[in-house]
Amino acid sequence: MDPKILIFMLLVCCSSVFNVGAQSYQGKWKLLKRSIGVSAMHMALLPNEKIVTFDRSEFGPSNITLPQGKCIKEDSKSSDCYAHSVEFDPATRAVRPLTILSDTWCSSGAFSIDGTLVQSGGYRLGEKVVRYFKPCMDCDWEEDQNGLLSPRWYASNQVLPDGKIIVVGGRYQFTYEFIPKLSGSDRILYKLPFLKETRYSALVPNNLYPFLHLSTDGNLFVFANDRGILLDYINNKVIRSYPVMPGGISRNYPSTGSSVLLPLKLFSTTDSDNNTSTPDAEVLICGGTAPDSNEKANVGVFVPASKSCGRLIITAASPEWEMEEMPINRVMGDMIMLPTGDVLIINGAAKGAAGWGVARDPVLNPVLYRPDARNSDGSTRFEVLAPSLIPRLYHSTAHLLSDGRVLVGGSNPNINYNFSALYPTELSLEAFYPPYFTKKKPRPSIVAVNPGLKIGYKQKISLEFTLEGSVILSDLFVTMVAPSFTTHSIAMNQRLLVLAFNNEVKKTSSGNYLVEGYAPETAALAPPGYYQLFLVHEAIPSKGKWIQIKQF
Ligand SMILES: *[C@@H]1O[C@H](CO)[C@@H](O)[C@H](O)[C@H]1NC(C)=O
Ligand SMILES: *[C@@H]1O[C@H](CO)[C@@H](O)[C@H](O)[C@H]1NC(C)=O
Ligand SMILES: *[C@@H]1O[C@H](CO)[C@@H](O)[C@H](O)[C@H]1NC(C)=O
Ligand SMILES: *[C@@H]1O[C@H](CO)[C@@H](O)[C@H](O)[C@H]1NC(C)=O
Repeated sequence: MDPKILIFMLLVCCSSVFNVGAQSYQGKWKLLKRSIGVSAMHMALLPNEKIVTFDRSEFGPSNITLPQGKCIKEDSKSSDCYAHSVEFDPATRAVRPLTILSDTWCSSGAFSIDGTLVQSGGYRLGEKVVRYFKPCMDCDWEEDQNGLLSPRWYASNQVLPDGKIIVVGGRYQFTYEFIPKLSGSDRILYKLPFLKETRYSALVPNNLYPFLHLSTDGNLFVFANDRGILLDYINNKVIRSYPVMPGGISRNYPSTGSSVLLPLKLFSTTDSDNNTSTPDAEVLICGGTAPDSNEKANVGVFVPASKSCGRLIITAASPEWEMEEMPINRVMGDMIMLPTGDVLIINGAAKGAAGWGVARDPVLNPVLYRPDARNSDGSTRFEVLAPSLIPRLYHSTAHLLSDGRVLVGGSNPNINYNFSALYPTELSLEAFYPPYFTKKKPRPSIVAVNPGLKIGYKQKISLEFTLEGSVILSDLFVTMVAPSFTTHSIAMNQRLLVLAFNNEVKKTSSGNYLVEGYAPETAALAPPGYYQLFLVHEAIPSKGKWIQIKQF
């Protein structure tokens, strides 16, 4: 087909991509398991559809013991026979205890090209450890005691275009480094003074859990409290500094807000400067609280959390923050990209901060944010959804499942497992069903990905799918979602691409539908590894289909 015609058709097709229209069904909650034995402080979904979750591991009993009567020797006197990590199967709800030997408290993670969860840092003896969890039957953690150069407690990770993982910051660590360490340049510690400069006071360790997003030009956006930079991590240069986010709110731990890279639209032919190459990258940061909220809460003053969100096109020539207000104040919210490209804001509290026992007024209602809703005042971008019954405060998590539900777990604002505290330690897992689980519209189903599940960059691909009823072309698009690692209100490496698909549907000989399009062009758009493909029709996503993209 003439590329000009294709571009025209894509523009026609996709102008309404996210224009969802009001929905009355506000979703629902379901308790999946009353106790998985540990509190889900960290969580990831592996390409074999299993959830791996873990807590910290230096603080005594959990509610599940290690497999086969194993115990871990802590020192000459004491040993620990409890598991602090489990594998959870969302299909059967089975729980399998796993063996972590070093302390994973407030650690970070991301995925390697082969779908292994690579998890880094933690506390005390765990602070330099890199741990690996492969997506295989009966596998367990493997630990490399000296995987990191620096101790990293509260650091953040992001997968890079070459498949390596960058690890940024951590308590008193104003540096970054790479894993795995394959070449000489991976064995160097790189300075990042920005992490020191953005502290709100010289008395605090730094901005813990900085927000990281890989921009479409391959550089790294780093955000701490109310400032962002674009980092050329290879040459260790700050390429640009963005305008300060207005409002005086802090967004990083302990004033914990959340941040996402909005959908990367690969069908766009122009960016905000009318250039025709790479698509824009736009960041959305929501919630958080005043810089001193944690200090005040420690003396019993619980400051209301922020309602504000800011959007910034980080690839624009003159970026400016566009500020909006959420319907509910929120600190420690998790922002989860749904397969439709909408953002779910879930968990957290309306007062106080992150830390032991310093939050009040749990926010039980998730809020949906539709990035492309049309109202110029932004008011219809938000929708308040159905409430849970379980508070999810500090050390809680949320994670997208392949079937489009969102798994929610954790919450332990107490020093130990404490079931009599004001907000007891939560060992349960729930699923939230977003509004697209309405029964009013048929759900598409991907039958096959051609030519296969291993995909190269720029490659032509097609999706075969089924749908009850006829296809509305203007309401059909394909998204590709990276697996993330969630903890402390951050889904590290969260990334959603809207693929360049043709606005044409064919019928196959077996009566299925077929749409054709292209894989992302570069590894800066989609770093190599596993992703899930979703076909979205009338704002209803199919189940995700795992594919692997890399240079084959
Ligand atoms: C956890 O274990 C404690 C002590 O055995 C018990 O009292 C409590 O009910 C358990 N809680 C859950 C949620 O399983
Ligand atoms: C981009 O180009 C189109 C067509 O030439 C023009 O109408 C539009 O104003 C331009 N937008 C910007 C932001 O320059
Ligand atoms: C767009 O092109 C102009 C002129 O070549 C350049 O200065 C600008 O940086 C480009 N913007 C982006 C976002 O690539
Ligand atoms: C649980 O929390 C309560 C209230 O903060 C405290 O009094 C109690 O000592 C804690 N129990 C344990 C076992 O830590």
